[in-house]
Amino acid sequence: MISDTWKIVDKDFKKDLKLKETLFALANGYLGVRGNFEEGVPSNITSTKGTYINAFFESEEIQYGEKLFGFPDRSQSIVNLIDAQAILIQIDDENYSLFEGEVLDYNRELDLRKGVISRTIHWKSPKGSEIKISWKRMVALTIKELFIIDLSIESINFSGKVVLRSFVDGDVSNMVSEDDPRVGTSSAKSLKVTDIFQKGISSFVCAQTVNTKFTVVCGISHLFPESFTEKVDCYKESITHTYTGDIKPGGKISFTKFAVYTDSRRHESPAKSNEEILTTSANKIFEFYAKAQEEYLKDFWEKSDVLIQGDSALQQGIRFNMYHLLQSIGKDKVSNISAKGLTGEGYEGHYFWDTEIYIFPFFLFTNPDLAKNLLEYRYSILESARKRAKEMGHTKGVLYPWRTIAGDECSPFFPAGTAQYHINADIAYSITQYFEATEDEDFLLEKGMEMLIEIARLMFEIGHFRRDGKFCIDAVTGPDEYTCIVNNNYYTNALTKNLFLKAARFHELLGKSNPEQQKIYTEKLSLQNSELQDFIKAGDNILLPFDKEMQIHPQDDSFLNKKVWDFENTPKENYPLLLNYHPLTLYRHQVCKQADTLLAHFLLDQEEELDLVINDFNYYEKITTHDSSLSTCIYSIMSNRVGQYAKAYDYFMNTARLDIDNLHHNSGDGIHTACMGGSWMSIVFGFAGMRLTNGVLSFKPHLPEKWESLVFSIQFKGRKIQCHLSKDETNFKLIEGDPIEIALFSDKLLLK
Ligand code: BGC
Repeated sequence: MISDTWKIVDKDFKKDLKLKETLFALANGYLGVRGNFEEGVPSNITSTKGTYINAFFESEEIQYGEKLFGFPDRSQSIVNLIDAQAILIQIDDENYSLFEGEVLDYNRELDLRKGVISRTIHWKSPKGSEIKISWKRMVALTIKELFIIDLSIESINFSGKVVLRSFVDGDVSNMVSEDDPRVGTSSAKSLKVTDIFQKGISSFVCAQTVNTKFTVVCGISHLFPESFTEKVDCYKESITHTYTGDIKPGGKISFTKFAVYTDSRRHESPAKSNEEILTTSANKIFEFYAKAQEEYLKDFWEKSDVLIQGDSALQQGIRFNMYHLLQSIGKDKVSNISAKGLTGEGYEGHYFWDTEIYIFPFFLFTNPDLAKNLLEYRYSILESARKRAKEMGHTKGVLYPWRTIAGDECSPFFPAGTAQYHINADIAYSITQYFEATEDEDFLLEKGMEMLIEIARLMFEIGHFRRDGKFCIDAVTGPDEYTCIVNNNYYTNALTKNLFLKAARFHELLGKSNPEQQKIYTEKLSLQNSELQDFIKAGDNILLPFDKEMQIHPQDDSFLNKKVWDFENTPKENYPLLLNYHPLTLYRHQVCKQADTLLAHFLLDQEEELDLVINDFNYYEKITTHDSSLSTCIYSIMSNRVGQYAKAYDYFMNTARLDIDNLHHNSGDGIHTACMGGSWMSIVFGFAGMRLTNGVLSFKPHLPEKWESLVFSIQFKGRKIQCHLSKDETNFKLIEGDPIEIALFSDKLLLK
């Protein structure tokens, strides 16, 4: 039983240190700092120290044994930055460490309403001196460059000298793993210190990435007791501030460290901006920022909180996930949400389709402006996607990269990378959902239609009309990465159908509502009526594989001809299969890493009859390993859809606490943002059964037995709607905005 579902609490600092560095990571979409201990840990303990700026990356030539045409040239990897977390405490001649002396009491907690981590320690030194230490830290949600650490030391029985050493250190490197493809493989040391300097009471370290030549500056400044002396030592790559004073039993020392990060991707002159921000922020106490942080979060929770009564573990899990999604989302045009947020280096800080299909819905229905930013990012890399399409030999349109930071394709393994052309259709899907949920016509006219048309052009070009008139797309990989390079992947084709038909439909609508603006983009894109007719024809005739005998939708043309994986004789320790079998072994079998056809059924709810969806569910469930964290949430949603309610709950349990409980054993490398978004989707699209289809919002709720009630709010077409579901009541309340109609099962409800 969890007593406070707003808090994440750690009572045992020795256990799962690396995992907790992830769980206690703080970020604000721009800057992210892992939950490392200020005082450090002994070198024999596994720890990953990390500070990151979203989209701040290094690039290297990708080394291939055999490089073929169109393979991406260069990598892009998020860079571990100048470290400002370290503060050492010395009392007389003893260094404080959690791993020496005796820890009489320890507590660390993250308060999700406050956005602050506090860590309190009652420590007895090897020589018997007792002090109480309280650390607080926050990455400001209101000033993106700012990270603050607040320290207070209280002496219980110690009388003597206290020395505090605070560092800013440019000698940092990235984490690498030869064995796990999900961790970075690029070289470890990407930052070179270019300058260190001191100005007044502040110290600055400037560094540059070796190849991308991006600059980052970290400036630090302190508030310290008046009675203490200050000494500053500059080294080659770091600066140390040393503060010395005395303490007596019962006495207290307060100390605050401000660290400001600026970078050349966001700041014209990073050093100058850094100085300015540091000067204006380093003169206020921690509580000042803590108050602003709480206010910011109050607004966030008012829009986003999901209340589950009757299950405190889940309540905590879902809040933790939403909080991390907020921490992860890039709010400028150069950044997005990486697969691990800003909590670690897994997947090299790359952005995937995870954003559009798994994370975007949460923001779209709680904070549409933030969702729009994500689309703005995709628009900002349209040129790179155009270039990539050409590189791949296409004559028209755009091909979005499977994984990237700045827009270039970075996936060296094309069967489960570039071949996932569905990312194009996924981005298109999120544009169509955005428009239907917000009616933001301006965005569609200025950017959305250009993306839709350019994506449609490419998808049309890679397909062809077969002899029987069916539109086919060959040699692509769907979401399931255990089945690669296939013809007519159901998911890809279904989402492409949506893209073709919606692009044409939206164009027609805009022609009526805003003919002048429609003309502008039509001319800009040289969009021909015949192209639109082609899209409609292809959409109407696209091949969606169906096996008449089995009455199911094969994942692709050849899927059902393959041998079914021998699950019975696969030992537990061989999962995830990707770490234990050659890809070809996997490709030769019917075995799915993650939801594929079922994901299409979820996204395009009205495409197929429920009977067939049930058949597909029963078939694919047996052969899906859920080796990807993107899978169980979709199975939870679809279990609800097909009426298998107990399963919906079990799958959800695997989703909502995946990182907190480290269910995939790799959360130490960073959170799983897609799964976090998926946990929100499991509630809203799963248990509440919400769908947005052709601009109409509908609900088919079914609460799990264990829950007393479920309450959440959504933003829809400028309205705020509160949904209150309990065993005997389903209540929708219009909190803000004009009356609107929604559907509940087959009834229509007018919310006034
Ligand atoms: C999944 C992909 C996903 C990637 C990043 C992989 O394991 O198969 O679908 O995009 O992780 O989260």
